[in-house]
Amino acid sequence: MSVKRVLSGIQPTSDSFHLGNYLGAVKQWVDLQDGHDAFYCIVDLHALTGEIEPKLLRARTLSSAAQLLALGISPQKSTLFVQSQVPQHNQLGWLMECMAGFGEASRMTQFKDKSAKGGADSARVGLFTYPMLQAADILLYQADLVPVGEDQRQHIELTRDLAGRFNTRFGQTFTIPDNYILKTAAKIQDLQDPTSKMSKSSGSVAGVLELMDTPESNAKKIKSAATDAGREVIFDEKEKPGISNLLTIHSALSGQSIASIEKDFEGKGYGDFKTAVAEVVVEYFRPIRSMALELLNDEKHLLDLLHAGAHKAREVAATTLATAYENLGIVK
Ligand code: TRP
Repeated sequence: MSVKRVLSGIQPTSDSFHLGNYLGAVKQWVDLQDGHDAFYCIVDLHALTGEIEPKLLRARTLSSAAQLLALGISPQKSTLFVQSQVPQHNQLGWLMECMAGFGEASRMTQFKDKSAKGGADSARVGLFTYPMLQAADILLYQADLVPVGEDQRQHIELTRDLAGRFNTRFGQTFTIPDNYILKTAAKIQDLQDPTSKMSKSSGSVAGVLELMDTPESNAKKIKSAATDAGREVIFDEKEKPGISNLLTIHSALSGQSIASIEKDFEGKGYGDFKTAVAEVVVEYFRPIRSMALELLNDEKHLLDLLHAGAHKAREVAATTLATAYENLGIVK
């Protein structure tokens, strides 16, 4: 059996990844590079379905690339590229729009949630057709596995349905990807509100640990994290959600077991513990942040890496698109 093809995508919608993004997705992408043929895509066209700020889009696309590289996505092992640099995404996206039913697309919960939030008048057509572009992202590469979070399950299901429909009606064209929902590695919660998930859209700035933030700022966030009644450092999600979250963070980054961290802090208070957690986080992020900043400082080199990735991606994408066109009867 040949190596499995992996494809995933991330939107360049913020200046920095946060600890939850890293542990929940990017770290697993890094692991999947070994033993798989991985394609990772910065989906800038999908980001246009939200607020469009040209300066920010550009900066965030480059910054996402720099962070992925600094976190261990290797251009030797995988193909890292920017979606808009591979025009076949738009081309196959249209074909997918012509396969999908209006009712089927209307049932996408992410569309329903996002369009409800801004009011029906502010929702744009691109938000509605977003899942068909995502299906194209995946099917162009004949991906076997699509590592994504639970919130993307429905989009992957739709992709499978569209691929199956196309294959049945027009002949074998696309690999039907498996569902591959990322395991919830460690549950990372907001530092200020440890009962909800660490997230930039819902959380407070002070509750989110950002990779590109300064070490001082991240240390300060940890030192002012919400703690719980009592003074013992023990893992108890119900009674001590704040301390439990800090234990999870420490353990995920230091590799030390929670039990052994608890032991180290027996008889010590929350203050000492927070100092230690801050140190673990700051030292873990420090080299990653400086490498990302270094990459951003040499934009030409960073763009060269991305162009090389796009070149490799286009070769695969063009082959798939040509087959799809041919099977549809499109004249060459
Ligand atoms: N919709 C995905 C998200 O919001 C991003 C995405 C776009 C994606 N295209 C993809 C993920 C293709 C996996 C595969 O997280």
